[in-house]
Amino acid sequence: ALVSLRQLLDHAAENSYGIAAFNVNNMEQVHAIMQAAEEVNSPVIMQASAGARKYAGEPYLRHLVLAAIETHPNIPVVMHQDHGHSPAVCIQAMRSGFSSVMMDGSLLEDAKTPSSYDYNVETTKKVVDLAHAIGVSVEGELGVLGSLETGKAGDEDGSGAEGILDESQLLTDPEEAADFVKNTGVDALAIAIGTSHGAYKFKKPPTGKTLAIHRIKAIHARIPNTHLVMHGSSSVPQEWLKVINQYGGDMGETYGVPIEEIVEGIKHGVRKINIDTDLRMVTTGALRQYLVEHPEAFDPRKYLKASTNAMSELCKQRFEAFGSAGQA
Ligand code: G3H
Ligand code: 13P
Ligand code: NA
Ligand code: ZN
Repeated sequence: ALVSLRQLLDHAAENSYGIAAFNVNNMEQVHAIMQAAEEVNSPVIMQASAGARKYAGEPYLRHLVLAAIETHPNIPVVMHQDHGHSPAVCIQAMRSGFSSVMMDGSLLEDAKTPSSYDYNVETTKKVVDLAHAIGVSVEGELGVLGSLETGKAGDEDGSGAEGILDESQLLTDPEEAADFVKNTGVDALAIAIGTSHGAYKFKKPPTGKTLAIHRIKAIHARIPNTHLVMHGSSSVPQEWLKVINQYGGDMGETYGVPIEEIVEGIKHGVRKINIDTDLRMVTTGALRQYLVEHPEAFDPRKYLKASTNAMSELCKQRFEAFGSAGQA
């Protein structure tokens, strides 16, 4: 059934678990997520970015998610719009039937320039007022995503904030978070705690201190009833990096967010964990490997099935690690 983000995250908070929110762009990703959810009995959040809507078109994405709901009537599903950078985008998604939207007012409409606090409050509140009138949930964002290692937004394709960010931007302030939630009424709050989008997050292997856990604790202590969202939560699986490069790819050395640190975050109020890059890497690795090992293959269903199964395996691991398995 289609449920709102609020309903699902309230249940997650009551039962102390987190839910992976996977970005979807095509049918194979939707299949993989639902196959995994069905196997381990997990609720699901599927989210469409601006890039996904441009790639597939909003009606195709909506109908793919509706098809998933029809096929798996026992699994609660949130249809969420990821990173809306204007009220207009959010209104369009609401009209199209999404049960949740993200109004990301941490950046201006160009999705590159960090905004003022007042702009963020005003823009987000506008969306919350409209969304709540029709039972749609809203995620806001306070702080600018970027790596504490480099001060950069980290997204290889150039989306995210431009320029070098300082620590006051890269770490969400607990007092400001409390004020933001009070003034906007958001259902969930994305916080900046050292993660960044994309595959190139960290240049060095994790030392156990990738995330600013102390900051997550401080924010959760200040606003215990607000569901926290962690963006840029891909773990950049080293085994898949190896597969990609072994079968003709060329990705550089890079590291993501360790699962154990995400699990620690879940103990301190993180409920929604955004993952896109990991599924991209698994898809690419599985396809490269399949095509090299089966040079005779030309039926896309064969090699796409290989990537779907590999993605599904990763989804299952995340559902289990974050504790949403068994909660549908
Ligand atoms: O927010 C970042 C997500 O990974 C979406 O990326 O805009 O390339 O679809 P995208
Ligand atoms: P990753 O690039 O780490 O997968 O993050 C995705 C994300 O935050 C989407 O909003
Ligand atoms: Na989002
Ligand atoms: Zn994000």
